[in-house]
Parts: sequence; structure tokens; C-alpha cells
Amino acid sequence: MTSINVDYSTKIPNNVNLVDDQRVLKGLEQWHPGYIDWWMTMGPEGFQTTEVYLRTAVSVDPKGWAKFDYIKMPDYRWGILLAHAEEGRKVSFGASKGETAWHEVPGEHRAALRRLIVIQGDTEPASVEQQRHLGATAPSLYDMRNLFQVNVEEGRHLWAMVYLLHKYFGKDGREEAEGLLQRRSGDADKPRMLGAFNEATPDWLSFFMFTFFTDRDGKMQLESLAQSGFDPLSRTCRFMLTEEAHHMFVGETGVSRIIERTCEAMKTAGIDDPYDIARVRNLGVIDLPTLQKKANLHYSLSLDLFGSEISTNAANFYTAGLKGRFQETKIDDDHVLTGAHYPVSKLVGGDVKLVDEPALSAINMRLRDDFTRDCQGGVNRWNKVIEKSGIKFELKLPHVAFHRHIGEFKDVEASPDGKLVPTDEWKGRTDDWLPSSDDAAFIESLMKPCWERAKFASWIAPPKVGIDNKSGDFEYVKINPT
Ligand SMILES: [Fe+2]
Ligand SMILES: [Fe+2]
Repeated sequence: MTSINVDYSTKIPNNVNLVDDQRVLKGLEQWHPGYIDWWMTMGPEGFQTTEVYLRTAVSVDPKGWAKFDYIKMPDYRWGILLAHAEEGRKVSFGASKGETAWHEVPGEHRAALRRLIVIQGDTEPASVEQQRHLGATAPSLYDMRNLFQVNVEEGRHLWAMVYLLHKYFGKDGREEAEGLLQRRSGDADKPRMLGAFNEATPDWLSFFMFTFFTDRDGKMQLESLAQSGFDPLSRTCRFMLTEEAHHMFVGETGVSRIIERTCEAMKTAGIDDPYDIARVRNLGVIDLPTLQKKANLHYSLSLDLFGSEISTNAANFYTAGLKGRFQETKIDDDHVLTGAHYPVSKLVGGDVKLVDEPALSAINMRLRDDFTRDCQGGVNRWNKVIEKSGIKFELKLPHVAFHRHIGEFKDVEASPDGKLVPTDEWKGRTDDWLPSSDDAAFIESLMKPCWERAKFASWIAPPKVGIDNKSGDFEYVKINPT
């Protein structure tokens, strides 16, 4: 049973009646101190006693699930929230299509499900670790608050996965939950499980690109897990998606505000050529070609998160009814896919071509295509901002063969427009295509805290609307408590 409202009577807020589930409640209460320990040592550095204007989920009702208030991050009510059960929900794809959705883990799929949950769970604390130093250089109190909101919600997403592990996977589940607190982003001995989650997030431009591209990978993964025949996983992911939307909003508007500021400064200074980089940088704003290079980096790292284009694992997860496709129930086909085909980008005789492959094996490729479409929508909105300013420049997603470490293109070098290039040419052009050490040094030089109410750093425009409709001078973070 779940209820609309969250039960705050136990130490762990929840809408899954933990009071009546003493075994799981006890397990989670034992896990809790380790989590807080992790949060204090690996969470946002330097702001653990600061009051931040955050939203906390108080219900899973689509209207009005969040409550805003000042809170110290370690006091955030991390809780376990599942979206409402859909009455009579059925498995909508794979070999068990049409069966009643599972409320317990089917024995034969236990290992696979656990693996999917652990991989998802591992990304959540990883991004908090990656972003932990950013508070110190926040370009405004508004942005600082958004960073911390993303961080506490990633913490909650970890709780969401840990609940599933404790509730449905017994001893192995509890061990996996411990492991999620042990690994560390970028650590040589105990790294996080996926590549992009071991990269540094050294500056705010990286943060915005990360939340735009990498949190969007998260969205696509959650969307396909929300289709799962294992109903508790589906419901958990459905509620996580409502929080995830804000993370991508932070990324998209963050980059958009940088573009707006850059174009505005260029216009005021009478600079029309976006490639007049030294002059643009002299204005204290980030030049558009550098934004392109950052997008190239973060998009390509995020593509790697989709795994190999052709994947037996993905096919098995699908046939087992564990992980579906993006918007599975809206797709007009048999949802079993035996005999169906899907076009996959492949290397054919030195060229990149689309080749029809069995649709089941190409599940990852399809999700990646959905991701690319979703990214393109955001990039189009960024380009509108540039276009409106009259500056001639267009941001583009690089080709899927560019800068890849996983899948079909991992052993070749390709330019952003998808031409295969010899290694020495690649080496010579890397600084044109990916952020160089000079670019990094320039961006770093801009990363100075701007913590006065209503003020924004030189390189980013204020938002159009405040969080929770607050006015422009709202004190989102109380840096100096009175
Ligand atoms: Fe998340
Ligand atoms: Fe996220």
C-alpha cells in the first residue's frame, strides 16, 4: 500500500508504509548513518551548515508534490517515494507481455534486476561527488541553490535504489547498498561504475553541460526502467523522473543564460565575429566556440553511457520484461520484436553507414537515438537565443562517431562532422574540437564566487523567473546567517 502523502513519523520519510515493514525499516535505519557520513564527507563542500531554500517532496501527487523552505542540507528529508500504483498494470513488452506486472522479483530475473538497480544507483552519489566543489565558485545565490537542489535529489535517488535493494534482494541487496557508499567518483581503486561518472566537473560550464547531457542520459535510463514489468522499480523511476526534469532545466537554462550574456556583451562591444575569441574573452564572457567544444565533450561522454549499439544484455533485459524502450507503450509494434529490425550506425569499409540489425539487439542504439533527438531540441532552443542576437553561429551536436570510448566507434578517430581521420590529424585537431588546457584555464579564471543577492557573475545572465516565483533579489542561500 502507498498513500499520496509522505509519512514523516519514521526516521525515513516514505509513502510505502515502512512502519508496517519493520525488517526493511530496520535495515534502512542501519544504512542511514553510513549515508549521512558519506554526505558529510563527499557532499557539497563548505555548505553543510548553510540554510538553503530547497524543495522537499511531501507527496507524489503530480500537482503540488513539493514544499519549499530554508533547510540545512544534512537535515533534508531524504525519503522513499513511489509513484501511485496503476490499477491492473500489465507487463507491456517482452516474453511476458500481457501478464500482470510483478510485485515481487521473479526468481529467474533476480540477478539481472539487481544489476540494473545497482548501475542506476551508482550514478546518483557519483554526480554529488563530482559536483562537491562547485559551491565555492557559484555565479549567484540562485545558481548555488539549484546546484544544491540537484545534489540533495541525487541523494534521494540513491535512497530510492537502496530501498529496492533492501526490500527485494535480501542479503545481497544490503551488500550492494553498502557498496554504493564505498565507491568514489574518479577513485583509482574504487571508481564509480560508469565512465562519465568518473570525470571531473571542474567548473560551472561543465556542471550545466553535465546536467543537460548526462542527467538527460539519466532521464532516458529512468524512462526505460519506468517501463519495467517489475512494478516497484517502475513506480520508483516514475517519481524520480519528476525530480529529474528540474536537473535538465538547470542545465539547459544555465547554458542558455551563458549564451545570452555572451551575445549581449558581443553586441554591446560591436563584435560580430564569434571567432574573435581573444576580444570576446576580454569582455569576461565565454566565447561560443568554447561552448561548442564543451558540448562536444559532454555529449560524446554521455553517448558512451548507452553502451554498445549491439548488445545481448540489452536484448535479454528487454525480452525478460525488465527494461523497455523510451515511451514503450506509445510505440506501434508488437513489443516483442522477434524478426523486427532497427537501423544501426556502423563502420562499413571506412565509412559510417546505417545497417539494419535485429531490433532486439539494437535496443541501446534506439534509446541513444531517442536521447539525441531530446538533446537536439535543447540545442535548437540555444540556437534561437544566438539567432535572436543576430550573431552568425550555430551550435551542433557532434556526430556519434566523434570521441567515443564504447561501442562501434571506439577504435577510430572521427571529426565532429563524422569523417574518419588519421590519428595524427586527430592529434593535431583535438584542441579545435575538445576543450583545450587554455580553454580550461580561461574558464577557471572566470570562476569567482558571486554571492551577493540579485548579483550574477559577468559571464551569465540572470534567469527569467525565480525559483518558486521568488523575486530577483531573493536570498536563495543564507551565506551569512543573521
Ligand atoms: Fe538522479
Ligand atoms: Fe539528475
